Amino acid sequence: MTTKTPKRAPTVLTITLNPALDHTVEVSGLQVGEVNRALKMQVDVGGKGINVASCLADFRVATAVSGLLGSENAALFETLFDAKHIENHFHYLPGLTRINTKLVDRASGETTDVNMPGPCLAADAMAAANAHLDDCFATLLPHAGWVVLAGSLPPGWPAETYARLITAAHSHGAQVVLDASGAALSAAIAAGPDIAKPNRSELAELVGHALPDTAAVVAAARTLLQNNAALRMLVVSMGGDGALFIKREESVLAHPAPIEPLSTVGAGDAMVAGIVAATLEGASLTQTARLATAFSAAKLQRLGPHLPAPELVRDLAENITTNTLA
Ligand SMILES: Nc1ncnc2c1ncn2[C@@H]1O[C@H](COP(=O)(O)OP(=O)(O)OP(=O)(O)O)[C@@H](O)[C@H]1O
Ligand SMILES: [Mg+2]
Repeated sequence: MTTKTPKRAPTVLTITLNPALDHTVEVSGLQVGEVNRALKMQVDVGGKGINVASCLADFRVATAVSGLLGSENAALFETLFDAKHIENHFHYLPGLTRINTKLVDRASGETTDVNMPGPCLAADAMAAANAHLDDCFATLLPHAGWVVLAGSLPPGWPAETYARLITAAHSHGAQVVLDASGAALSAAIAAGPDIAKPNRSELAELVGHALPDTAAVVAAARTLLQNNAALRMLVVSMGGDGALFIKREESVLAHPAPIEPLSTVGAGDAMVAGIVAATLEGASLTQTARLATAFSAAKLQRLGPHLPAPELVRDLAENITTNTLA
């Protein structure tokens, strides 16, 4: 007799409104305007909320995903969700999910990106999508105590979209982690997410001035926390310089793991997943900084939004150096 693992209700819901398929084509000596012979092709599922869910699932956190997905090329997304036992609550649109093309020229070492903007929805289709998200919140929250809002908005979606979703999540008793940029970030911050994870340039754009060093980042983050009663924690990731984890009463600087990255794509998404996993465990700020940095470090060593076994991630966390800031 086979024993089936009982299905666990998701504790985290991630939202991806503008996912993408990343289509990478490798050539040697790209000739613009000519027929080029490709050496290799790869298609990867992309989208920040999906990356976060994928990392959380690898860490054995029961996770659900929602957002907008094109019906015509949904199969690769569905394969990932099935493989990782991620509950799929996407709203399906007619047509394709956008495809972002990366032309990697092995001869010059240059990569040329051609990114699609995402679907343009008519008003009634947008209303249907919003109604689907509201239904999804009503069904999954507050059992799923955390909602992750991550990535860009499709064209035509109001900058206040995340602000609306934050208010809706809070009305169901759930908490929100926000990973956005530009106008969507500034409108959403005003609605008071519980945690936000900008990188250094996203924070600089939000506060409206350059952040040349760590002291400037700390000062900007503290001002933001002082002026926003709902925001409990701000994590500012700084690429190879590590990340700052700041609460009103304490600040921790986490140094990056001393590793040679294979790919830095999605390191921030892995960090968001680590922040959620640590928060679910009731971790201290230092433990959160270590685990979230370990998620990023583990991700840097592989392509795609995947982590090794949770024990290995926890081992990595043990070796992350942190400083408590005065
Ligand atoms: N080059 C690197 N070397 C070592 N660690 C890195 C490097 N780049 C990123 N990291 C780790 O990953 C974390 C998050 O990276 P980063 O600040 O680049 O996020 P991000 O800009 O939000 O990325 P993305 O949005 O592409 O996922 C950093 O705080 C650090 O711990
Ligand atoms: Mg990021």
